[in-house]
Amino acid sequence: LDRKVKQNNWEEGNFINYKKMSENLSVVRSRLNRPLTYAEKILYSHLDNPHEQDIERGVSYLRLRPDRVACQDATAQMAILQFMSAGMPSVANPTTVHCDHLIEAQIGGVKDLERAVGINKEVYDFLSSACAKYNIGFWKPGSGIIHQILLENYAFPGGLLIGTDSHTPNAGGLGMCAIGVGGADAVIGVKLTGQMSGWTSPKDIILKVAGILTVKGGTGAIVEYHGPGVDTLSATGMGTICNMGAEIGATTSLFPFNDRMYDYLAATKRKDIGDFSRTYAKELREDDGAEYDQLIEINLSELEPHINGPFTPDLATPISKFAEAAKANNWPDEVKAGLIGSCTNSSYEDMSRAASIAQSAMKHGIKSKAPFFVTPGSEQIRATIARDGQLETFEEFGGTVLANACGPCIGQWDRRDVKKGEANSIISSYNRNFTGRNDGNPATHSFVTSPDLVVAMSIAGSLSFNPLTDKLKGKDGKEFLLEAPTGAGLPDRGYDPGNDTYQAPPQDRQSVQVAVAPTSDRLQVLSPFTAWDGKDATDMPILIKAQGKTTTDHISMAGPWLKYRGHLDNISNNMLIGAINEANGEANKVKNSTTGEWDAVPATARDYKSKGIKWVVIGDWNYGEGSSREHAALEPRHLGGIAIITRSFARIHETNLKKQGMLPLTFAEPADYDKIKPDDKIDIKCTELEVGKPITMVVRPQDGKAFEVKLNHTFNAPQIEWFKNGSALNTMAKSRA
Ligand code: F3S
Repeated sequence: LDRKVKQNNWEEGNFINYKKMSENLSVVRSRLNRPLTYAEKILYSHLDNPHEQDIERGVSYLRLRPDRVACQDATAQMAILQFMSAGMPSVANPTTVHCDHLIEAQIGGVKDLERAVGINKEVYDFLSSACAKYNIGFWKPGSGIIHQILLENYAFPGGLLIGTDSHTPNAGGLGMCAIGVGGADAVIGVKLTGQMSGWTSPKDIILKVAGILTVKGGTGAIVEYHGPGVDTLSATGMGTICNMGAEIGATTSLFPFNDRMYDYLAATKRKDIGDFSRTYAKELREDDGAEYDQLIEINLSELEPHINGPFTPDLATPISKFAEAAKANNWPDEVKAGLIGSCTNSSYEDMSRAASIAQSAMKHGIKSKAPFFVTPGSEQIRATIARDGQLETFEEFGGTVLANACGPCIGQWDRRDVKKGEANSIISSYNRNFTGRNDGNPATHSFVTSPDLVVAMSIAGSLSFNPLTDKLKGKDGKEFLLEAPTGAGLPDRGYDPGNDTYQAPPQDRQSVQVAVAPTSDRLQVLSPFTAWDGKDATDMPILIKAQGKTTTDHISMAGPWLKYRGHLDNISNNMLIGAINEANGEANKVKNSTTGEWDAVPATARDYKSKGIKWVVIGDWNYGEGSSREHAALEPRHLGGIAIITRSFARIHETNLKKQGMLPLTFAEPADYDKIKPDDKIDIKCTELEVGKPITMVVRPQDGKAFEVKLNHTFNAPQIEWFKNGSALNTMAKSRA
């Protein structure tokens, strides 16, 4: 295990450390003395201090040392701006940035990319210069989708990766523990037996699992696949399954290292990693007798192809029942668009199988009835399918090949064929299908399935078509059945890398200037937040007492505001504008306690800030649920808030608030929420903050006697330092100074 094997072919000096991982693991083994799941093994092997780390399930926070970090261009902007404010000369962990989210699909790959490079020039220039400055690998627009590039270049068995995107778990296809958001205190086992055939594909495994566990079922858990069925899947197929684990709320999903991963590593010029993984193979899977908190079993021999949706990825219907379901629910029968690709399904295997179905139709003289779109997952995939003919097949079939980017999957789709509000059906091989996700039209019924079924349904142009049983009519008037898909898992002739789309950090990074124009309205350099003044906070107004559901969308709305995600001051103008004020039942209308005027929430916060007045927010249950939007924590901090006091928090938002130096506090007695009036004044005894002890809030009603309320918190010792220093970043900068 004591070999020097590089993590990837792009960086010097970053090695895979199986020796250290194995040592850490033996320390934890001797402490726990029980069989471990693969998920536990990866996490424990990355402990900062395996001897002293508390390892109580569901209680201890693990201090982990990830191998890598990856960011996509939409989230990287704020991540890098925050990093810059910490004043460090380079990233501490090997990091890459991937430009994939900002390219809008309009006419086709080349033109769309050109347009995007123009529109987003400011952002791309910033990212590329910041990456050069801080020693980050930069994948330019056109390089492909982050998760595909990670799988092709950076993922390795047993590694730990942190990514700023919810589908980071895709790297689980190579046995990497890859986490986008969330924490975990449970492991759900999925045992696969049997073997797939015909129209069934890896996507159907996760579509089925989503149906069983629902969109909430994986929350707080890592999903670990195992069993004899695993060896029948390709590495990219396993990636598909892990990718879409995000749709059931799982923190990540994992497959154990096997020969199919070895083959993929070898095909992507990393045979040395495959060989190295073989020497450590015993630790790259679960121990015999490992127990799972929950166990699901799927027999692949009996698994039917599935279609999930509309509007939610967990409404799973097997193809044999789908026509019936479509009719019963009045889903618009005509398929208005078929879309394959996205980070979920854009491997060589996916493209080859899809192309084989298209061929099968074209042999009978018919093409896609519905408009058909392809997003290759990476430049390497695009170049390889261009060389091997699948791309040409798609074009002959009537398809449009879009840029190597997220495109319609993230709503970057200039769709013109239906009007907003017009009910219609589309079918894709993507992962998410929430209302309006793909085209901004709330009436679009979006279904997710395998690329195979997307092609078949596009040919028929109808949701009631079942390619396993229903015949199509060829040009010659004769009826025929589509042939079941076939396709190589890996290209026989190897991958063609295509155009060079990678920018390595230069040797001399000192002279690099990070490009941020002071006049920019999309980007703003951040200054560190101020440290705590060491005093209790007294006589504070309640900016808003929010009533009912307050999601991160209510706190920091998306849509048009996303444009400002690199500009904290501008985006702060959306702070809490969706939250309902208990005082008047309205959104974005609160009373300014200093002037008595009713005004917008952000404007009122800015007024307090300008007067040097700190403020708090009172919230209801599960405050901050929804997507893990960092801005929802940054904005209240930026506009002068000190504490968010709720009946309960969504865990990720709670941690985000702590990271930004805010105090997320909960009522020890949830009923105390009702005792607070929106125009009360609040004292918070910040000086009482200690691990495991409640702190006191004094409530001063306008007319009436002050009273005390106990507040709980979940700060651990290092997190208390975040509060004291003003943020987690300040703490990090301090410890490195
Ligand atoms: Fe991009 Fe869609 Fe994946 S937005 S990262 S292709 S989920």
